[in-house]
Amino acid sequence: MSPASSPTSRRVWWGAWGVFAASAVGIALFSVAPYLTGDPSQSKIPIDPEAGLHFFYVTAHALPGSLLLLLGPAQFVPALRSRYPKVHRVVGRVYMVSVVLAAVAAVLSATFSMSGISAQVAFYLLAAAWVYSLVKAFLAIRRGQVRLHRVWMIRNYALSFAAVLLRAFLGIGLAVRAQFAWPEFADIYTTAVWASILVSAGVAEWFIVQRTLAPRDRPRPGAGSRPAAPAGTGR
Ligand code: HEM
Repeated sequence: MSPASSPTSRRVWWGAWGVFAASAVGIALFSVAPYLTGDPSQSKIPIDPEAGLHFFYVTAHALPGSLLLLLGPAQFVPALRSRYPKVHRVVGRVYMVSVVLAAVAAVLSATFSMSGISAQVAFYLLAAAWVYSLVKAFLAIRRGQVRLHRVWMIRNYALSFAAVLLRAFLGIGLAVRAQFAWPEFADIYTTAVWASILVSAGVAEWFIVQRTLAPRDRPRPGAGSRPAAPAGTGR
């Protein structure tokens, strides 16, 4: 993700990045806190009393989930990547391991979730897309395909960021409910889960097209109607 070129658009760019990073860090710290206590009564979601390990699964999901949310934003800053490539690599590995741990624990948490089948299906699909995009990003960088790696990591982190949007949408839903005594909490939760996934994935695709594909496709002066050159691996 390279910052825009004019001073104004650079300011807008860094402002947007700041909001994005601050919300990721804020939600990571805020949502992990109850699970650091080891006390199931502190859980923000209902824990199935019949399933002995339910709270453990949610905790095992929330800890690496919060860590990777914290680590992600800096990985997209070009200056940090080029100045400290070793740090980028080490942080990238920690991020990847965290996604795998958080995804496995997410599947287990979803299995015991008391939030209903619609939210459970959303969580399963999200976990699958999360791991798939991670594997694609990993394979791309192993082959030296830096641009492709970046595209898949944008997709992957957007899915991580769904956790931030979920809490924002839940907050909006609960504010509406406090005002109108409607809708039911379960409907707010399920809607927030699906909306957070769709909005995160949609914005990521828009971003990839706008910043990665569109600039490459802009007609060059004098290029006429010649077909575009095949895309290389790019660095
Ligand atoms: C993107 C893939 C993710 C999937 C598939 C996923 C899945 C889940 C599932 C199934 C639950 C249990 C929900 C329920 O029973 O209703 C849960 C809860 C939770 N998740 Fe995730 N999650 C993801 C990402 C994240 C991330 C990046 C974080 C980082 C903050 C996170 C933090 C939490 C926390 C703290 C809870 C406990 C509920 C709460 O206190 O709000 N999750 N997640």
